[in-house]
Amino acid sequence: MTTEPSLDAGALADARAAIDALPRRKDQLLPALEAAQHALGWLPRAAIEHVHRHTRVPISEVYATATAYSELRFEPPVPGQWHVCTGISCDLAGAAALLTALPDRTAGIDCQFLCALAPVVVDEHERLFGRVTPDSLRARAEASR
Ligand code: FES
Repeated sequence: MTTEPSLDAGALADARAAIDALPRRKDQLLPALEAAQHALGWLPRAAIEHVHRHTRVPISEVYATATAYSELRFEPPVPGQWHVCTGISCDLAGAAALLTALPDRTAGIDCQFLCALAPVVVDEHERLFGRVTPDSLRARAEASR
């Protein structure tokens, strides 16, 4: 069993408030997960459990839904890390070259559903960029420091 990193109490309170602001309905599952991630940057167990209690969706279904969306994370983001989509379209459009262009600051991520703009990169603030080249990636990353 892995141990989760400690949570910022204020951010967790913000996440709970954002979830509680949503209607207590099953169809609010995805908006609740998105609200929690927006407040915390990821989905710790405490947030998952709060979504479960608020929406009255079984916790297994909450996890199943959360794991179906690649933009939802179960680990805290690494500060300064960018993600390169490694889905098929992005792979064919040069994702591997992007990963090697900034090896210390990039990691792979599943399809971001912007395949027409491949290759796609997600920056540290979750902004998406399409048709990225190794040079444009290095320039954007340098400008963001
Ligand atoms: S494969 Fe990269 S956005 Fe779909």
